[in-house]
Order: sequence, then structure tokens, then C-alpha cells
Amino acid sequence: MRKITIIALSLLFATTLFAQKKTKTPLYKDSKQPIEKRVNDLISRMTLEEKVLQLNQLTLGRNDNANNMADPVNDIPAGIGSLIYFSSNPDLRNQVQKKAMEHSRLGIPILFGYDVIHGYRTMYPISLAQACSWNPKLVEEACSVAAQEARMSGVDWTFSPMIDVARDARWGRVSEGYGEDPYTNSVFCVASVKGYQGDDLSNPKKIAACLKHYIGYGASEAGRDYVYTEISRQTLWDTYMPPYQAGVEAGVATLMSSFNDINGTPGTANQYILREILKERWQHDGFVVSDWGAIQQLRSQGVAADKKEAAFKAFTAGVEMDMMNDCYNKHLAELVEEGKVPQALVDDAVKRILRLKFRLGLFETPYTPASTEKERFLLPQSLQIAEQLAEESIVMLKNEGSTLPLTNISKIAVVGPMAKSNWHLLGSWRAQGKSDDAVTLFAGLENEFKNKVQLSYAQGCNFDGEDRSGFESVLTLAKGADAVIVCLGEKAQWSGENASRSTLSLPQIQEDLVAELKKAGKPIILLLSSGRPLELVRLEKQSDAMLQIWQPGIAGGNPIAGILSGRINPSGKLSITFPYSTGQIPIYYNHRQSARPHQGKYQDIPSTPLYEFGHGLSYTTFEYSDITLSADKINRGDKLIAEVTVKNTGDMDGAETVHWFVRDPVSTISRPIKELKFFDKLMIRKGETKVFRFEIDPIRDLGFVDGEGKRFLESGEYWVMVKDKKVSLTIN
Ligand code: GLC
Repeated sequence: MRKITIIALSLLFATTLFAQKKTKTPLYKDSKQPIEKRVNDLISRMTLEEKVLQLNQLTLGRNDNANNMADPVNDIPAGIGSLIYFSSNPDLRNQVQKKAMEHSRLGIPILFGYDVIHGYRTMYPISLAQACSWNPKLVEEACSVAAQEARMSGVDWTFSPMIDVARDARWGRVSEGYGEDPYTNSVFCVASVKGYQGDDLSNPKKIAACLKHYIGYGASEAGRDYVYTEISRQTLWDTYMPPYQAGVEAGVATLMSSFNDINGTPGTANQYILREILKERWQHDGFVVSDWGAIQQLRSQGVAADKKEAAFKAFTAGVEMDMMNDCYNKHLAELVEEGKVPQALVDDAVKRILRLKFRLGLFETPYTPASTEKERFLLPQSLQIAEQLAEESIVMLKNEGSTLPLTNISKIAVVGPMAKSNWHLLGSWRAQGKSDDAVTLFAGLENEFKNKVQLSYAQGCNFDGEDRSGFESVLTLAKGADAVIVCLGEKAQWSGENASRSTLSLPQIQEDLVAELKKAGKPIILLLSSGRPLELVRLEKQSDAMLQIWQPGIAGGNPIAGILSGRINPSGKLSITFPYSTGQIPIYYNHRQSARPHQGKYQDIPSTPLYEFGHGLSYTTFEYSDITLSADKINRGDKLIAEVTVKNTGDMDGAETVHWFVRDPVSTISRPIKELKFFDKLMIRKGETKVFRFEIDPIRDLGFVDGEGKRFLESGEYWVMVKDKKVSLTIN
């Protein structure tokens, strides 16, 4: 009897379910249902072929990524998971999306991704510069604007933020991250994720973010790109993992697996980082997309014999989506049918992608609403943020004898290849940025000094080459001026992807131009635009003042001129060390102590950098009190308050960033001589005093991680440091 009842009930349930499916809207299309239910319902309806298609990303529109040239993809399958979208308006996207919604069996929307790295159309300073602002709130606002411009143009997902800690500036991609420090990259990672994603991905002005390049890409040997990286487990955990852990904890939707070979196992086939840590230990419920071609490149890295083996290794390691490798679409179904890849693994991967599509609201709103460029781009608020971020990113490296600000002068000679360039100010990864949107350095000077100072201009020389024919005329110009502003730097294409350089020096012709101008005997102010730290030891000797303006995006011209005139007080501080020479590389602030700190130096050059991490001058002066602690002996579970009082002792208001460092002078494993654990930036009016406070959580801020990522805090003495101030405390 009991058996009959069970059979009857099961039949009834199956019939109801079938009837439901037959007549009612499928559950996955019911936006009132919980996302997980919709994901499970949809996946239960999908064929293996439909599932595999979701795991692939192709490109749509004119591919503008010069490093990844690929033939235009014409016959895009209606069931494709994702497309990289290169157009700047939603029309083409909506056309292809319509094909997916109306001509695929289940109507699964396509996810459109793109490299929105430092702005979409409103181009902000490069990320390395943004970090020098020490203003994560402002960076969050910039990312929020980038998200709005991108989403309204048909992009749902950005391959950003790039958070690769980098200590070798010969590597061109140092420009794309937030510098040499793990904590700095962590803070700006979280700010970017919040700016891009907000707290609701279905918001039509937010986009999904993507942490990249997971992991250790910044350790590329000798600064060459795409190469081997030797990363001990200890360094993996204390240097490269923290920004990714912070981003995952902040709820980032996706990550991108890296090209580099990590101690013999490429990031894109690395089970440990992709599955054991990211999915199992951190419980990330989003997905990993490969970098462009990184799966099929496992062949050239010698860990896969062919694309099928590459597909197997990447997929089983934990890469859910294949970006332009032509591997998953060709071999994954076969691997499942051969029993080499479990169907359950495919289902888990597809669910992760569907989950994001549901969270983005793409099933309800697959099409991007129409809008004009005026409604999308370069809005007044966006431009204001661009100008503010450019201003706060600029670092005054040198100001001998208060050469700056330029007051009481009537003639300025403006010289150099960067003076009237707009193109190079945007740097690499310029998305839909247009160089005509940029305010050039010369235009900024005209805006600032018009009707006050007579500006004269001559280019003098090119960025590189041997043509010195312009030297004579610039020298004449300089002799007739009260001061000379020399605009130098790197071409945009000298940094970014696939842009390694053997030296941080600028080309000789630029250094020779300054040496020639020096003969005029007038104050020389250098404006330096670059995507990396430069070797400035010779230029430093020839100049009276130097501003590192990085690649400031479209709105650098006016704030830079404002700093030169004294209207603006510079507040930027370096997020990366400027070596004395390229020969010092790698050189970074948070190094471990040598066995013989007073020996082992270079014989031919100093062993200290030219400009340290955190260096940056102001027009005013700040006086720091000693550090006070709420206690000098605490138990491991206690909290601690550290404070320092800063007084503006100069005659100009100024924003000051206080960097809080810690050190464990004696530990089970040697620890860096100092580690940044907090920072704060406050405006301090002239004559005013402000208290900066660091609420120390000993485990988080004084503890350390071992080679398995386990955080530990040992009893004993610890130091808390700000500038040259230091206090010690004891953990019982
Ligand atoms: C590139 C880059 C990566 C970018 C991707 C898509 O090769 O390594 O940062 O997001 O391809 O353009």
C-alpha cells in the first residue's frame, strides 16, 4: 500500500511539474524567484552544448586591443556566454543580444565585458597615479562614473581593477596597478570594486568588476612581460594574495587568471590558487575568466601538448570562462563525454556565470536603453572628479629654494615634447577615451596664466631620436624668460601591456634638452609624464623643481598649472619607489633587513632610492607630534588606539596623508622593516592642528601570514611608526 502511495504521489508531482513547465513561464524567467532557484531551474533545462557555449567569450566590434589581434568574429552563436564589446554605443550590442534572447532555445542573455581600467570615455589618471592621491573615496567615485558610462554604452562587466603588486618598473604594466605595496593595492582594490559594482549589480549604472591578473603577474622576471615568476609560498601570501583576498571579501563578481608561470604552474592552470584557495577557502561564488589566450598559451608554456589538454588543465584547475582561446568550445564537451571532466564541474561553472547574469538583471533587462553621448559621457560631475583626481595624484618630487610656485614673474618659456601632446596624457588602456578631450599641459598653462604672464613655446625635440636641431631656438627662448617649464616623459605606448623597457631613463635626447636649457641660467621646472617610475638622478641635478604628473588623463592640464601658479597645494605622495638607477631594481620600501645592514652596499651607486615610497612635497610644512598609544601592553584580543597630531606650520592650507607603518622586530620568520597598515588624508588649514588616529586590531595589523596563508600573532614587542616617529608596544 505504502509503495503504491509513494508511486502515486511521485507521478502526481512529475505530472504537475511537467504541466507547469509546459504551460507556465519557466521558473528561471520569474524574477520573483530567488536567484539560486532560477539558476538551478535553468541549468536543469540546458544541454551539454548549451552549457559549454556559456563558458566561452568572443569579441564583438572592432578589436582595439593591439596586443591581442584577432580576426573579427562573424558568426557569433546565439548561445554564447560572453562577448568583449569594443563599440562605444549600445546599438550593436542590442542587435546581438536580440539574437540571443529571441533565437536561442532558452533565451539566455549575453554578458558584455570590456577593459574599463582608468575610465571609459572620461579618462582618469592611470591607476598607479590614482594611488598617489591616497584618496580611495575619490577613486571609488571615479570608478562609479566609469561604470555609469560603460553600462549606458552596452558594457556590463569590466576587466578591472588590476591589483598586481609590482616592484620592477621595467615591467610596463606597473602603470595599471596601485604600486609596490600590498595594503595600498588592497585599499584601492576595494574602493574600485565598490565604485564599479555598488551594492546592487542590477542598477543600470553599475557593472561587474574583475580582479586581475590572478596571481603574481607583477613578479615577471626582469620586468619582461608574459614570463616566468618565481614566487615563494611565503611571498605569495604576504605580498600578492592580500589585495585579492580583500577584493573577494568586498564581493567582487569575477577574477581573471594570469598568463605568468608561477613556479612551474601557470596561473591559468593553477589548481591551488584557483580552486583550493579562491573557491574552497574563500568560498568565492563568482567565476574566473582566462586572460586573452592564456589557456591555449599553456602549450607554449610547456604544460599542455594541445588545445584539448589545455582546456582540460585550465577547466579542472578552476577557470570557468575561456577568453578567445577556442579551447572550451572545441574540446570541453568531448572531455565530458570521455569522462575526463565531470558533468558536475561543468554545471558548477555554468551556474557561476548564470548567477552573475541574474544578479546583473540581464534576464529582465537584456537591452541597454538608448541614450545620447551627451547623456552618457563627460558629464560636469565626471569632469570635476577627473580634475580632482588628477590634482591629488600629482607628486612634487623636488622644489629647490621654493622655485615653485611661480609668482612675481612675467615670462615663462614652455618647452618639450609633452607640452602640447594630448594623446600621451591618456596613457595605456584608454578604452573609449579621446585625446581631443584632454587639456594639454600648454593649454592648462594658458588657462592659468593668461593676462598675467607671457608664455612662449618651442618643442625643442621629440620624445626620442637624435634630432637636436631645435635646441638652439629653445635656448634663445629660455634666455628671454624668467623661468623654463620643460614637459618631458614617456609616450603612452612605452608602458602598459607588452611594454617592457630595459631602463627607467628617459631617452638621451630629453636629458640633453634639459642640459642645453640649463645654459640659460634660469629656473628649470620639469613636468614628467610617465606610466612608471623614472630614473631621474641626472635630471634631478639639472632642475630646480620637478612634478611627477604621471599620465593624468583628460583633466590634468588645469590642476598642474594650478600647482605651478600656487593656486593649488600639491598633496600627492609616491605609491611606488623611484630608484636611484635601474640597476637597483628590485627596490621597494617593505624589504626585509639584511644580515649586515651597514655592509653589502653597491660600490658604484648609493643603495637608497632617489625618492622613497610615500615621498611628496607640499607648499606648506607639517609638524608631527610623537605617537601616543592607548596602552603599551595589551593582550592579543585587545584593540589599541594610536594617535599622532599634525600641525600645519606653513602659510598655506594643505592636505596631508599620514602613513601608519608597523614592524615586528623579532619574529619566527623575518618580517619587512616596515609594513603599511593604514593611511588617512586630511585637509589642515594653515596654523591648524589635526589628530590622525589608527585603530589597531593586533591580529589584522600586527600579525603576519605564513606560507599557507595562516595569520598568526606572536607575543613580544612591536613598533608603530609614522615618518621618523616610532613607539613600541608589547603583546602579552
Ligand atoms: C589582455 C590583458 C588583460 C585584458 C585582456 C582583455 O591581454 O592581459 O589585462 O583584460 O587581454 O583585453
